[in-house]
Amino acid sequence: MQQASLLLLLLLAGLCALSRAQYDEDPHWWFHYLRSQQSTSYDPYDPYPYEPYPYGVDEDPGYAYGSPLAPEPRDCPQECDCPPNFPTAMYCDNRNLKYLPFVPSRMKYVYFQNNQIAAIQESVFDNATGLLWIALHGNQITSEKVGRKVFSKLRHLERLYLDHNNLTRVPGPLPRSLRELHLEHNQISRVPGNALEGLENLTALYLHHNEIQEVGSTLRGLRSLILLDLSYNHLRRVPDGLPAALEQLYLEHNNVYSMPDSYFRGSPKLLYVRLSHNSLTNNGLASNAFNASSLLELDLSYNQLQKIPPVSTNLENLYLQGNRINEFSISSFCTVVD
Ligand SMILES: *[C@@H]1O[C@H](CO)[C@@H](O)[C@H](O)[C@H]1NC(C)=O
Ligand SMILES: *[C@@H]1O[C@H](CO)[C@@H](O)[C@H](O)[C@H]1NC(C)=O
Ligand SMILES: *[C@@H]1O[C@H](CO)[C@@H](O)[C@H](O)[C@H]1NC(C)=O
Ligand SMILES: *[C@@H]1O[C@H](CO)[C@@H](O)[C@H](O)[C@H]1NC(C)=O
Repeated sequence: MQQASLLLLLLLAGLCALSRAQYDEDPHWWFHYLRSQQSTSYDPYDPYPYEPYPYGVDEDPGYAYGSPLAPEPRDCPQECDCPPNFPTAMYCDNRNLKYLPFVPSRMKYVYFQNNQIAAIQESVFDNATGLLWIALHGNQITSEKVGRKVFSKLRHLERLYLDHNNLTRVPGPLPRSLRELHLEHNQISRVPGNALEGLENLTALYLHHNEIQEVGSTLRGLRSLILLDLSYNHLRRVPDGLPAALEQLYLEHNNVYSMPDSYFRGSPKLLYVRLSHNSLTNNGLASNAFNASSLLELDLSYNQLQKIPPVSTNLENLYLQGNRINEFSISSFCTVVD
């Protein structure tokens, strides 16, 4: 158990910006850090645990792993670090790379974040078909320069980080094994109807801070999806149909002006809905739009509502500030929900 959580910590730490300075000042910091971290748990919805990876372990692996020095493996691209004691991981992040080096076949976790990579060439993962995680966030990748079949042959890939790039559409086809897909902070304006097809294991989809105007019925088929973040886009309507397992729906900072009747009925596990900073008016709301018994939290702040819409009595937090709610509406609401 302890071993497993340490491994996960190392994997997650690899996603973060490196802080070599910290290591240089106090070579024991990693040890202190590990001890201080033992009680914290991993939050599956936190994409960036802001802890530095223990760079320097390849200079003296004894500190972190208690094993003897080993030479850098020969198949490691010279631009990258492949820690001898973690033979399935390759670190090529934060080093001004302009292209992706070829990935050796033994790799499962590869980190290319925060470089100036503009393209994902077709053959780069050809040998590494066992990849589980690919981190490519913080680069300059454009949709035109993503090889057509570059991801679909990675049949085990579980996490793909492509956020903070220059993508204009959702890349695809994507492997069906994906569990987490990070596409936030791009310039995506289109979600092609089949882009997310067959992703039966996808649990979290991050599309916030893009330029999406419309999402059709493509999300309904994502039967494991628990978290959907479409905040900070240009949506005028909510997506056509929500996944059945959805628990968290983030739509704040869009231009949504209407809600269909019983919109949440197809998602009986939905707990949190954020719709703040949209253009909702009472005229645009179907009478029972928000009356869903599973909801615990509903954020409708900063819209143009004049009356409080009907909600379920199970709701624990309802946010309404920044609207034009009149007094009469408040007193009648309070009698209804007691
Ligand atoms: C890719 O895999 C093939 C077959 O295992 C091997 O012969 C080749 O050397 C590998 N290519 C690289 C660049 O590692
Ligand atoms: C990516 O977007 C950034 C910021 O918008 C821009 O400065 C950069 O030139 C773009 N790069 C490419 C390759 O389009
Ligand atoms: C989805 O996850 C299950 C359980 O972990 C696994 O058995 C299955 O192969 C996965 N599906 C795909 C398409 O990878
Ligand atoms: C909300 O829905 C429940 C059952 O789905 C219904 O009994 C109740 O009257 C509805 N509340 C309002 C205010 O319409």
